[in-house]
Amino acid sequence: MRVLFVASEVYPLVKTGGLADVVGALPIALAELGVDVRVLVPGYPKVLAGLHARGREVELHGLVGGSAKLMYGRVGRLELLVLDAPHLYNRPGNPYVDEHGRDFGDNHLRFGALCHAAAWLASPDGGERWRPELIHGHDWQSGLTPAYVALMPPQQRPATITTIHNLAYQGVFRAEAMGALGLPGSMFDIQGVEFHGHLGFLKAGLWYSDKITTVSPTYARQIQTETYGHGLHGLLRRRDADLYGILNGIDTAVWDPASDKHLPATYSVDDLAGKRIGKRALQLELGLHPDPDAPLFVVVSRLVTMKGLDLLLSAGRSILERGGQLAVLGSGEERLVDGFAHAARLNPGRVAYRGGYDEPLAHRMQAGGDAIIIPSRTEPCGLTQMYGLRYGTVPVVRRTGGLADSVVDTTPETLSVGLATGVLFNDIDASALAWALGRTIALYHNRPVWQQIVRNGMEQDFSWRRSAARYLDLYHRVLGR
Ligand code: ADP
Ligand code: GLC
Repeated sequence: MRVLFVASEVYPLVKTGGLADVVGALPIALAELGVDVRVLVPGYPKVLAGLHARGREVELHGLVGGSAKLMYGRVGRLELLVLDAPHLYNRPGNPYVDEHGRDFGDNHLRFGALCHAAAWLASPDGGERWRPELIHGHDWQSGLTPAYVALMPPQQRPATITTIHNLAYQGVFRAEAMGALGLPGSMFDIQGVEFHGHLGFLKAGLWYSDKITTVSPTYARQIQTETYGHGLHGLLRRRDADLYGILNGIDTAVWDPASDKHLPATYSVDDLAGKRIGKRALQLELGLHPDPDAPLFVVVSRLVTMKGLDLLLSAGRSILERGGQLAVLGSGEERLVDGFAHAARLNPGRVAYRGGYDEPLAHRMQAGGDAIIIPSRTEPCGLTQMYGLRYGTVPVVRRTGGLADSVVDTTPETLSVGLATGVLFNDIDASALAWALGRTIALYHNRPVWQQIVRNGMEQDFSWRRSAARYLDLYHRVLGR
């Protein structure tokens, strides 16, 4: 079975969030199940520089946004197809914004070209080459692919699946973009790519795809409601029979405390000495008091409203009042950056803040922390709570989306049956978070109980194997096999 992934990020070449982790790991798990998967990504400078094996190149004439080349390559065990289009991708900044944080003005072309190239790959013109039977797109950047596929003669069309990693980002552009994207006016319809008078990339994907998936069962239900639906709940409800919630896995080779090369000492559930070494090293690295008994809370996150970290700015005091410490790694919105930087200045030795993006430090924080805080307003899946579980760092999370599906609250009942893995709270409010933090610290000081929670978490299996099998089932269903 030949499957093409289409995505704007892929670990380890280019990453701004969990999407890259998924696109870098799921294809490998699918390949282990016998699927022939390739990943189509834009040729940003980092991608071109990081490709290990470069193969054949194919010219794409008449591509949306201007002619380009398609390059075959590999990184690690991932088979890639890179859209080499310097006029679209050879720029400073991240995949979406320039170096000043502004959206690129031609993002509709940058990602429209990616979608167009995907559909072209599946078409019979172009002679001898790898041709996907199924295109699996991720998030809005891949959304036009099924629309381009719908323009192909029915007998030539590949099957299409769109996965929603975050419904809040939809790729909405002015209607005038239709022409430059080569889309006929007839598609500008509520039964098509139109979204409230604009052109919606994700809307198009959800309308034209054979199947839709999202990254947790709870989020699959939530996005069919007005509160979480971002205006697309009506369409998603209508497509309920084609909508699947499949919980993400994690790359257990990249995130493994027993072999993680970023850690000062490795460890496992049978010997946690390395975790204590990691905690002390992290405290020293971040300028925190090297107190082994102070519960160390960590945050590794994009600092955006969705992640609910404004609640932590208010509730953080409840950590310090009980002798705890807080270490935050993340970049994003100014008010949150300023808030955590300010808290660190006011509380030297007890609060630390690191900005920017630092993959090795993210690993050291997962290893050195006692608990990881994820107070998200919405969380389609969330990966850092699963990394936390695997690293024996107890997640303190809001009960929403994939957080609710992957962390089990600690109660006398869940403890007695060995299921407790974290601490959950319900309301989007600082006092609810403060309560959860207080509860966590009380658990931390009850050593046997804490060790049990840590152990339960470390013994969970969040590897991709199970989720990949569910995707494979869906591929079979959509291909009618
Ligand atoms: P989202 O994709 O919404 O940001 P996830 O929990 O799915 O949330 O994934 C976040 C990913 O980004 C994780 O791999 C996490 O470790 C990583 N991450 C977030 N912020 C940083 C940072 N500042 N430095 C390093 N890694 C980060
Ligand atoms: C998105 C979501 C996050 C999810 C990730 C990978 O970035 O915000 O919850 O874990 O995609 O699916």
